[in-house]
Amino acid sequence: MIIFAIETSCDETAVAVVRDGREVLSSELFSQADMHALYGGVVPEIASRNHAAHIGRLSELALKNAGIEKSEIDAVAVTCAPGLIGALLVGVNFAKGLAMALNVPLIPVHHLRGHIAANYIAYPDLEPPFLSLVISGGNSLIADVRGYTDISIIGRSRDDAAGECFDKTARVLGLGYPGGPVLEKLASDGDDSLFSLPRPVIEGFAYDMSFSGLKTAMVNIVHNAEQKGEKLDTASLAASFTRTISDILVPRVMAAAKEFGHDKISVTGGVAANSRIRADFTKAAEKDGCTLLIPPLSLCGDNAAMIGSQAYYEHRSGADAGFELDARATMEVSEGFQAIDMY
Ligand code: KG4
Repeated sequence: MIIFAIETSCDETAVAVVRDGREVLSSELFSQADMHALYGGVVPEIASRNHAAHIGRLSELALKNAGIEKSEIDAVAVTCAPGLIGALLVGVNFAKGLAMALNVPLIPVHHLRGHIAANYIAYPDLEPPFLSLVISGGNSLIADVRGYTDISIIGRSRDDAAGECFDKTARVLGLGYPGGPVLEKLASDGDDSLFSLPRPVIEGFAYDMSFSGLKTAMVNIVHNAEQKGEKLDTASLAASFTRTISDILVPRVMAAAKEFGHDKISVTGGVAANSRIRADFTKAAEKDGCTLLIPPLSLCGDNAAMIGSQAYYEHRSGADAGFELDARATMEVSEGFQAIDMY
């Protein structure tokens, strides 16, 4: 089954062609990061306009690079939630038009289910069950993946996402957007034990996380130093910050794997690109005898191939949508699109 997949939930316009959920025939991406960097973060209106400007061109390119004709497309898949509503709507309406014109099914996909599905492309023999940590710019969650479409969240950030914390920290340090890659580079020369930073615990919710206190601590450290005219060891601050994020994530994920009986653990989302976090997970998985799955960088950030992969399984479970399909800014991972009562 050949699925034409579209992703426009944030600031990446992405289109891919995926066969049978596992084989990527093409995957095209236009990142708007440079445009949003001017403003220190994603500007929703600019994101929507750029999706509209680039989605047609990328679709042509995806078809050409996949080496297929439009008539060979068996279904159109699109990220419908969660995300920036205006940005999602561009993808959803483009997908509706295409599915209608080609007279093929329209498959709605939850963005975070897509991040989990990145593993099916990276590891073609992988099948659920497994435990999945998704750490992106907008979400941090631990999911119990019992089946391709049977997924429940067992831990999540109560406030900011890990990626947002990277982005805001980089902003207060004047390092631009997105913050993750630049902080990673800066941290490589730092001492990760120089700054003691908060690692909050949420009583009674062993797998929930909180990053807003860490973000505030970073802002305060930078502002205090500025007010006192002191020079900060920013490399050590970045290293201590990254270690703290890792110290919040790794023990929770390993404990959740034990409790829920998983010996396969996946880490996806943009923050999974971080080499320190990858190394800490690698060590912990080795110690506990677990298999660690971390997709390559190209599949960790937003892309449409992961949407095309998840769509295959959503379609098999009967989750096709009608043309009344709408986008949603928020939506639980465990919800199905069939259950949406839009009006
Ligand atoms: O998954 P993603 O591409 O988009 C969302 O769905 O949010 O994640 C983007 C996030 C940003 O917050 C970015 O700063 C972070 O991933 N990120 C990183 C690294 N590369 C990207 N965070 C830490 N270290 C990195 N190397």
